[in-house]
Amino acid sequence: MTLKPTHDLHVTSQFGPRAASYVTSAVHASGEDLTEIAVLAEQRKPQRALDLGCGGGHVSFHVAPFAGEVTAYDLSAGMLSAVKAEAVKRRLNNIITRRGSVERIDSDDARYDFVASRYSAHHWHNIAAGLSEARRVLTPNGIAIFADAVAPEVPLLDTHLQAIELLRDSSHVRDYAPSEWVEFLKAAGFKPGAPKLRRIRMEFASWVTRMATPEVNIKAIRALQSTMPRDVADYFELEADGSFTIDAMTIEAAP
Ligand SMILES: C[S@@+](CC[C@H](N)C(=O)[O-])C[C@H]1O[C@@H](n2cnc3c(N)ncnc32)[C@H](O)[C@@H]1O
Repeated sequence: MTLKPTHDLHVTSQFGPRAASYVTSAVHASGEDLTEIAVLAEQRKPQRALDLGCGGGHVSFHVAPFAGEVTAYDLSAGMLSAVKAEAVKRRLNNIITRRGSVERIDSDDARYDFVASRYSAHHWHNIAAGLSEARRVLTPNGIAIFADAVAPEVPLLDTHLQAIELLRDSSHVRDYAPSEWVEFLKAAGFKPGAPKLRRIRMEFASWVTRMATPEVNIKAIRALQSTMPRDVADYFELEADGSFTIDAMTIEAAP
């Protein structure tokens, strides 16, 4: 039997070739969560900010105008090259890039006074380790903010969401429910605030194109959608073309 690559290698092979589309993706380049992160950065004016799982760099680009320095951190070298090039275009010369895993951040303790992560934690192979690392590198007077897609607290809805997420992107691990986020953050040593929830619409064609979802998986997602119980389809506001709406959350966490 041929051994498959580890999850982290799988993440880099999923994201690396698609870096450019994450820089331009409308879902990633804008959103209330990005505004919230920018507002918090403006209030805090951090000396050193860390963007965990930076992807196309949108958090870094929004924090950089208010920070001394921003480290855009990701497993994928392809993503980091795209962030570097875009930072030059935007004349944001205080963004540096660093490659690594959130589960083992290459940093001294208490180095960053602002830690942010957006739309990344649902790919981490070990969220408990990632959050505990985020807590370790945060200064005692710093602040962390996390934004991600979240699962409904109802198992029926949760199962349908994770199933289509995994079919769309085989590096998907789990959209955690808000209550799970709160528990993970507490276990990592954070004092989490109240989760702020919102809804975001996923336009089907661009959602699968961005991840180059194989045709066979697209068909499987459409098949699952066609047999979704009405209460599930209603919850996700399922549309005729497969577009749907999910929950997303922002949560601040103090050390
Ligand atoms: C959807 S993209 C992030 C989007 C970006 N943060 C934004 O706001 O537009 C997810 C990113 O998380 C990164 N990632 C996933 N697991 C990781 C891990 N364990 N350590 C570091 N980066 C990781 C991936 O390489 C990918 O670039």
